[in-house]
Amino acid sequence: MSGEHLTIPTAAIGTWAWGDNGEPGYGYFGSGISRAGLEEIADKAHAAGLHLWDTAIVYGMGRAETLLGEVLKRFARSDYQLSTKFTPQAAGTSDHPVADMLEQSLARLGTDYIDMYWIHNPADVARWTPQLIPLLESGKVKHVGVSNHNLREIELANRLLGEAGFRIEAVQNHYSLLHRSSERAGILDYCRSQSIPFFAYMVLEQGALTGKYGPANPMPSDSDRAGTYNALLPQISALTQKLASIGERLGATTPEVSTAWAIAKGATPIIGVTRPNHVDGLVRASQITLTPEDLVELEAVADTVKVSTRGWWEREMVV
Ligand SMILES: NC(=O)c1ccc[n+]([C@@H]2O[C@H](COP(=O)([O-])OP(=O)(O)OC[C@H]3O[C@@H](n4cnc5c(N)ncnc54)[C@H](OP(=O)(O)O)[C@@H]3O)[C@@H](O)[C@H]2O)c1
Repeated sequence: MSGEHLTIPTAAIGTWAWGDNGEPGYGYFGSGISRAGLEEIADKAHAAGLHLWDTAIVYGMGRAETLLGEVLKRFARSDYQLSTKFTPQAAGTSDHPVADMLEQSLARLGTDYIDMYWIHNPADVARWTPQLIPLLESGKVKHVGVSNHNLREIELANRLLGEAGFRIEAVQNHYSLLHRSSERAGILDYCRSQSIPFFAYMVLEQGALTGKYGPANPMPSDSDRAGTYNALLPQISALTQKLASIGERLGATTPEVSTAWAIAKGATPIIGVTRPNHVDGLVRASQITLTPEDLVELEAVADTVKVSTRGWWEREMVV
């Protein structure tokens, strides 16, 4: 798997929760991750051919990148692909803030190139997008994409890169049964028409669409995600019940059906994996075939759940 070609697996692995410090109940997720558990995740993912790892400098302010670099060291660099991001809000004040942030990511990840480098959000498209061009020319970055951009901003970024002979090679947005803003805004259709892979993040709504959490067993109370989701869990349970009932017919679990839905919609899900058995779930999810009727039924129930799961960092995609 050469860095020149982005080979996209059925699903990518997300590492935001790896930025927590590992203590149960602490941090954004409070998942109680352990170093041994992350190493097992890496081994299982490697064995399953899940070779694309998504991270960002801001996940634990470097901690997720450092851990990811450490646990992937056991594999040849050509056996996995790294996806990380330039976050405008964390930019420094030098003449080359994007190049500088990339250097920090390279050092933490223990590599000299990034397979997929993203502009994390559209803070200033005209300012940040052109700064990707020298990184592509130097080979330190093999492919580029944009995240949290609306359709107009994606087209602008594509035009700016096009002036130097490059293009947006992927889009990464929040996309789940409960948050279909990118679909409604025509971004999925645009990506399909331009042969641009669409990566869906928070497909499991940070655990709320796994069936693990509900009104009787909420998310860890001192984690940040609990502040968003715990109050919504009573309304969301209609959807997790529907996911579970479809899963029962297929011999699949609730998170597997949530993930299979995104795959069926043409997206590449980035799933935040915190336990080794989540990797098994990802593999099974890619083997499930949902029928068109399943998709219609799931979306119909999802539409009756009147909650907003838009992240505090996101804007509406429909403009
Ligand atoms: N570009 C952006 O702005 C942006 C924003 C958000 C996320 N992302 C990327 O997308 C990734 C995914 O998003 P996310 O991690 O926030 O949320 P997510 O994938 O929707 O949910 C992750 C949570 O779901 C649970 N889970 C995962 N697999 C499971 C399985 N097979 N069975 C049961 N539970 C399972 C885990 O909860 P427990 O730990 O409680 O078990 C995990 O913490 C991130 O890690 C990050 O790489 C990007």
